[in-house]
Amino acid sequence: MSDLYLKLVSTPVGKSAAQTLGLPAPVPLRRLKRTDEPFIEGDVLIGAANGAKAIATLGRILGASAASLHHATGPQTLSDSASAGNKARALTLPPENDRRFSALVFDATGIRTPDELRAVYDFFHPTIRNLAGNGRVLVIGLDQASCRKAPHAAAQQALEGFVRAVGKEIGKKGATANLIRMVNGADEQLESSVRFFLSPRSAYVDGQVVRIAKSASAPATNPVAPLSGKVALVTGASRGIGAAIAQTLARDGAKVIGLDIPAALDDLQTVTDSLGGKALACDITDENAPAQIADFAEEHFGGLDIVVHNAGITRDKTLGNMPEHFWDMTIAVNLSAEEHIDETLLERGLLKENGRIVCISSISGIAGNFGQTNYSTAKAGVIGYVESMARQLKNGVTINAIAPGFIETQMTAAMPMTIREAGRRMNSLSQGGQPVDVAEAIAWYCSPASGGITGNVVRVCGQSLIGR
Ligand code: NAI
Repeated sequence: MSDLYLKLVSTPVGKSAAQTLGLPAPVPLRRLKRTDEPFIEGDVLIGAANGAKAIATLGRILGASAASLHHATGPQTLSDSASAGNKARALTLPPENDRRFSALVFDATGIRTPDELRAVYDFFHPTIRNLAGNGRVLVIGLDQASCRKAPHAAAQQALEGFVRAVGKEIGKKGATANLIRMVNGADEQLESSVRFFLSPRSAYVDGQVVRIAKSASAPATNPVAPLSGKVALVTGASRGIGAAIAQTLARDGAKVIGLDIPAALDDLQTVTDSLGGKALACDITDENAPAQIADFAEEHFGGLDIVVHNAGITRDKTLGNMPEHFWDMTIAVNLSAEEHIDETLLERGLLKENGRIVCISSISGIAGNFGQTNYSTAKAGVIGYVESMARQLKNGVTINAIAPGFIETQMTAAMPMTIREAGRRMNSLSQGGQPVDVAEAIAWYCSPASGGITGNVVRVCGQSLIGR
């Protein structure tokens, strides 16, 4: 469904009317146009608090990009910025001119005490106004597991508040702020996430925190077809977010099995035929569904590399009015079915080494939603499932969740107009996301280079005001 208000305020007259009336004036988000476009261009400023652990890696990743790289000099708290390598030219803070930065990237991994948080201020205070429209703020911090002492843990946790508050200040430019918290020594795993968060692929991912652990494998991938040779199963692939996931994984080189209920087979086939994939008509709540899926994957491809549990339903009613079949069906489709499918695939050894499982939760599962006790319960359960499975999975298999906010699909088009309009605007970017925004985040999780990312729940919500 199209957002007429966003179209209107994107015209000069509409923009000025919105400003005069004090209404939100969302900036159209820049999304990927071509898979071979550079992940970042323009001027990028990089800085590091003293004791930084990832600055050399960041300098290497950004030094190899199409961006023009600068490192911050001036304040004593930022002397390690110079370790960004010889591709980064020194830039004295406050900025020497009115240069517009497409990204401000800060390595905060060296911060060990609340006093040292001053380095964050020293870097961002003189530069944040110079962030371009659709720009990126990216902070690298340390995961809690790497902070033994309380002041260290406090200082590193503080970065979450900083990034979320910055996100709210820069959202009106269509710009985003995110935090990567890496385990000590996991800097070799940073590349896929740095590329994702700085690129237009993460246009609607804002105010998020992702944890990166060490992983045995971080293979170099072909940036244009990182999933070539992989086989992906996408449930609920006939339309909406599922169709976008299937298209995006196929774009990245994967062979796709699209699955949907038998009644949606025609639409499903249209999607999979256009991708050279295979269609599987199956109700995931059927008792035989796990075996049917396993047999299909084994017969056609000898197994799976990627499983995306996207199929979902809502059956809204306030709790006192909710018939039991609304409850049962919502839990079955959104939660139990994925557990049963994974169990069978794992038991039969059909999920290959370094496999990827991605589940779809929802903001509703984080914050709870009026009239959605069944759906919120199921989607919160998805988070518990992912966190527990992440501790159990072996052979390099990862599992993560995406929690979409308001995404423009048939599901949200069916909402009453006032609720729909509120859902669209109540986020830092003042607009709904597109199915491709969810799909791009899934493609990032699924990359062979994302082996260090497991047990995460990342929201694709434009930094919704609802929930954490
Ligand atoms: P949609 O309703 O457009 O698509 C869902 C697909 O799942 C449909 O093709 C449907 O036929 C399929 N499906 C439903 N029950 C099935 C079953 N028993 N077996 C096999 N397939 C089944 O929904 P949309 O918006 O594309 O959502 C996709 C996922 O994202 C869902 O899990 C949803 O809960 C989640 N989500 C969506 C949000 C949004 O704003 N659209 C927000 C938060 C989460």
